[in-house]
Amino acid sequence: MTLLTLASLALALVTRTLASPPLVIQDESQTSFPSVVTETKVPVILGVMSRCPDAVLCESVFDQVLKRVANKVDLSLTFVAHTNTSEPDFGVSCKHGPTECAGNVHELCAMKYAPPTHFWEFVQCQNYQGIDKIGQPDTALKCANTAQIDWVNSGVGDCAGLDGSGKAPEGVLLLQNSAKATAELGIEKSCTILINGKQVCIHDGTWKQCENGHNVHDFVRQINHEYNKLNGNRNGEEDDF
Ligand SMILES: *[C@@H]1O[C@H](CO)[C@@H](O)[C@H](O)[C@H]1NC(C)=O
Repeated sequence: MTLLTLASLALALVTRTLASPPLVIQDESQTSFPSVVTETKVPVILGVMSRCPDAVLCESVFDQVLKRVANKVDLSLTFVAHTNTSEPDFGVSCKHGPTECAGNVHELCAMKYAPPTHFWEFVQCQNYQGIDKIGQPDTALKCANTAQIDWVNSGVGDCAGLDGSGKAPEGVLLLQNSAKATAELGIEKSCTILINGKQVCIHDGTWKQCENGHNVHDFVRQINHEYNKLNGNRNGEEDDF
């Protein structure tokens, strides 16, 4: 037997050993987990600035909307801010100052690392403290506690700064990327509402460009409509009103 033959024999054995088990595992998984029906949630994006009265208003309207259609929605915030390499801490300028940038970072880090319901409770808590408190370290820590977010162990604190400064590298990067994404979505005003990728309404002092309405029922109706479209459900109009 040549060395080459030995080598190929060994290779063949190894290949068989490696190849067989995954086939068995795959068979098992196919029988234990038969076709799981996955519903597609409707992406809802709010273009906001953390210390903006229009954002606080939109977020309070969507708090009501979520009470009706929480399980049909994938809600996220994207932040209006402008890249500015002269800004020492954030690399972006926020309309309501660096404290707003910090507030944006707090919310982005909560969005990334906390479960959606806790993230949303965190945002509502920040808003409830009053606009001049948003972005302050003690507000973030207090609201994390209220929203059952473990600041130290969840990842939110590492992202935003354990001291609550909002200036930790990961959070700052999230803010810079969010500002770019906002611009790419064509969002300029806080608050701008996108439902399933379509801009449906703006609140900028007053409601603007809200063709299909701007109250809680109107948003719920539009979300149900998009949800039914995404999930091919023609009989799902019962939630429309
Ligand atoms: C960029 O940041 C610097 C430093 O804070 C500030 O003075 C300047 O006004 C900012 N520029 C813009 C366009 O916001």
